[in-house]
Amino acid sequence: MRAWRHWLLLRGMLLWGDSGAAVPPGRSGIWAARRQLSGAERDTLKQRRAQIMSRGLPKQKPIEGVKQVIVVASGKGGVGKSTTAVNLALALAANDSTKTVGLLDADVYGPSIPKMMNLKGNPELSQNNLMRPLLNYGIACMSMGFLVEETAPVVWRGLLVMSAVEKLLRQVDWGQLDYLVVDMPPGTGDVQLSISQNIPISGAVIVSTPQDIALMDAHKGAEMFRKVHVPVLGLIQNMSVFQCPKCKYKTPLFGTDGARKLARTLNLDVLGDIPLHLSIREASDIGQPVVFSQPESDEAKAYLRVAVEVVRRLPPPPE
Ligand SMILES: Nc1ncnc2c1ncn2[C@@H]1O[C@H](COP(=O)(O)OP(=O)(O)O)[C@@H](O)[C@H]1O
Ligand SMILES: [Mg+2]
Ligand SMILES: [Zn+2]
Repeated sequence: MRAWRHWLLLRGMLLWGDSGAAVPPGRSGIWAARRQLSGAERDTLKQRRAQIMSRGLPKQKPIEGVKQVIVVASGKGGVGKSTTAVNLALALAANDSTKTVGLLDADVYGPSIPKMMNLKGNPELSQNNLMRPLLNYGIACMSMGFLVEETAPVVWRGLLVMSAVEKLLRQVDWGQLDYLVVDMPPGTGDVQLSISQNIPISGAVIVSTPQDIALMDAHKGAEMFRKVHVPVLGLIQNMSVFQCPKCKYKTPLFGTDGARKLARTLNLDVLGDIPLHLSIREASDIGQPVVFSQPESDEAKAYLRVAVEVVRRLPPPPE
């Protein structure tokens, strides 16, 4: 008796005198429970702990004025996530002219929206000190690239990156948007988790090429969203088929059904195939995305179809 009381004193948990009479009731209760923990009690304790932990998670707060957030993610970089995000945003607007669409570049390490949307410059501040998005092709855009010099090395780590993300999420005056398309950084790191936990996301689309490695990364991406309860709307298979610009002959470069197989194992839909096409890259590079500059092309139509599939799978928007 004396020995464990002494130990507790040392741990600073209990502060009572030598008499041993002044044990605070709550404390003795905990101690008693500890000593006789049965299997059932242990389960209850586990449940309670889970409850407390879920209470401790940051509360998701909608972005002012934004009805639905669609994130475009991938397991790795270079699979065409930004290209897809840009053309998806344009396609959502093109398919339904009553909808207003915004584009948030959350790739704080390597922002590519400014170049792809041919936008440059510093956002103005609104009356309540929020940043106004820059506008092109009818899409409101915000990117880290508007806030730092293109040549400045973006080598923020940890907190700096997080506060940058926080600014992009909370300090932008989007006005009224039906859809905000978010171009995520590659992978399943802190930025992705932070965004998923801070704002309600209507759905995630995962971009992947048909190669096995990219597909394995896509798998990880899909799992992450499921863990944080973000509905995954489906997979977009990018660069699946090469279409010769001269004779229009189609070559399936990486095999035809990698993404479909993965989709089946994950119980997910394929939202569409985007061909590997010179004009998609060229259009992106000169800041005139194909859905805007060549809306009648097969490439643009592929994005327009994907946008239909995305909208079809979104939950009904809030009133
Ligand atoms: N379907 C496509 N056809 C041709 N080029 C593409 C296609 N998708 C992406 N690209 C090109 O591939 C490169 C990487 O695309 P990007 O969208 O920047 O990838 P991520 O955002 O995943 O890193 C860019 O040069 C882009 O123009
Ligand atoms: Mg990108
Ligand atoms: Zn040819």
